[in-house]
Amino acid sequence: MSASTSELSYQSGFRNHFSSEALPGALPKGQNSPQRCPYGLYAEQLTGSAFTSPRHQNLRSWLYRIRPSVSQGAYRRLPEGGVATAPLAGRADPNPMRWDPLPLPEAPTDFVDGLKTLAANGDAATQAGCGVHLYACNRDMTGRFFYDADGELLIVPQLGGLMLRTELGVLEVLPGEIAVIPRGIKFQVRLGASNAGARGYVCENYGSPLELPGLGPIGANGLANPRDFLTPVAAFEELSGEIELVAKFGGGLWATRLTHSPLDVVAWHGNYAPYKYDLARFNTVNSVSFDHPDPSIFTVLTSVSDTPGMANLDFVIFPPRWMVAEDTFRPPYFHRNLMSEFMGLIEGIYDAKAEGFSPGGASLHNCMTPHGPDAATFEAASAAELSPQYQGETLAFMFESRYVFQPTETALAADFRQRDYVDVWKGLGSHFDPAGHFDPTVP
Ligand SMILES: [Fe+2]
Repeated sequence: MSASTSELSYQSGFRNHFSSEALPGALPKGQNSPQRCPYGLYAEQLTGSAFTSPRHQNLRSWLYRIRPSVSQGAYRRLPEGGVATAPLAGRADPNPMRWDPLPLPEAPTDFVDGLKTLAANGDAATQAGCGVHLYACNRDMTGRFFYDADGELLIVPQLGGLMLRTELGVLEVLPGEIAVIPRGIKFQVRLGASNAGARGYVCENYGSPLELPGLGPIGANGLANPRDFLTPVAAFEELSGEIELVAKFGGGLWATRLTHSPLDVVAWHGNYAPYKYDLARFNTVNSVSFDHPDPSIFTVLTSVSDTPGMANLDFVIFPPRWMVAEDTFRPPYFHRNLMSEFMGLIEGIYDAKAEGFSPGGASLHNCMTPHGPDAATFEAASAAELSPQYQGETLAFMFESRYVFQPTETALAADFRQRDYVDVWKGLGSHFDPAGHFDPTVP
């Protein structure tokens, strides 16, 4: 086995046309597919869009590898385990739902085996919607690699870091950071320093690839800035042996045998590549007068749908920030939305809930299901002395979609589901005083 020494170096920028070679001169000069490639490599193109997609949406990379991807055996079907794909059987459910963190496994479990689907929406076969999975694992993938043909993977670690060894290079991603592995890119997950156990969330985006949202009147800067996205440099291994390549395709898991590591890309160029982003780099924008803007102001990445403004998927965060709005109910307001919301918590507390929403936990509020602050939060925030306040120790996020999420049977039956969640709003009594004696200026 030999491996390049350029692991854990990154190129900065969002979906730039990157070029990277782990051996000098491995990238062909001036053309993509010469008659003979340097070092005897094979040229292979990987596209993430139709050939004819408009230029600003066109995604493709050229890979220069030791063996082409066709050097593999036939696919055979694997048991699906905990992984499910939309459309799911059954019906969606309007009840608000909440789950405790997925317990860490006791038996040896790698990233793929540790995936459990909590909900899904849309239809993977029509490239609409997404799947929401939790992962909990305690061992490296060894002799085993994975790719997802059904969608790109947005990985949100909550506990422990992950080493994502991909065809295009290696990304280390820690809690507080995210990684995106585009559809079809082969990778392997190792736990690095966190081999006591790693846990987090994965959004499998069946729709158009995540992109930076437009900024409108905010201007040219703010929210997630392109320079803070990091794409790995080329890194390869030349490794022979019995290798299993697992594919998620058509809602099922499949496996094929290889006699070599698929991480054999010595050089590549293009704009279709995995990337990572540190959520602490998010430039949070909010009200400095009164009220607060809608949570779309916290959008990190968006997957657009065919209808302008109605996302297939928005990835939204609620990061540490100053709260300064005057005469304002500062936590999230009560609301009912067209869009459906899956939430997770990476660390700390979420300001709409006094308790019950723990780091690693999850909640689901579907289309038009009412939700908002619980009774304890409403009472406290209505009476709070309003001075500038730093909301630290928090990092919550939302996968928000135009499509209704349907929980899986596993999620509905899970013993870590909080079946009494709806009761958090029970204590919200009436303050109505028709005689007009209620003074809104008195806490
Ligand atoms: Fe909401």
